[in-house]
Amino acid sequence: MSMPLNPAAAPAGRGQSQAIDLIRKIDRIDGHWQPRVVAEMNDYQFKVVKVQGEFPWHVHADTDETFVVLEGELKIAIRGGADAGDGECAGGEAVIVLRAGQMAVVPRGVEHQPSADAEVKMLLIEPRGVVNTGDGAPGARTVANDQWV
Ligand code: NI
Repeated sequence: MSMPLNPAAAPAGRGQSQAIDLIRKIDRIDGHWQPRVVAEMNDYQFKVVKVQGEFPWHVHADTDETFVVLEGELKIAIRGGADAGDGECAGGEAVIVLRAGQMAVVPRGVEHQPSADAEVKMLLIEPRGVVNTGDGAPGARTVANDQWV
């Protein structure tokens, strides 16, 4: 797996105490599925990304992951995970559809596959250090962490 030689370092202010234009930040990113950090809150990072097409199925065993759609329509296929406590069968498959202004939290341990028929711009909120392709060996879509835009 190749890593960028000079990923943009975290600014001293960590993106705090300023207005951040998420769409303008996204427009500075080359390519799809390339998340970039725009700010941090405690140990959490806010990452912007534009996506199109299908991402590999993956899981984050240790953390929930939040998706906030800014433009376009994102589908998140999910499967597995703990019983929600409502008596419904756990472990089945479902698809969450998110349009601009909508968000969803994928719980830890739930396999998920984001996809977008047309380009989607979104914000991800997750703890620092989360690998975009999830647990296990890095793949072609794995991106180096802590790259700021
Ligand atoms: Ni994920």
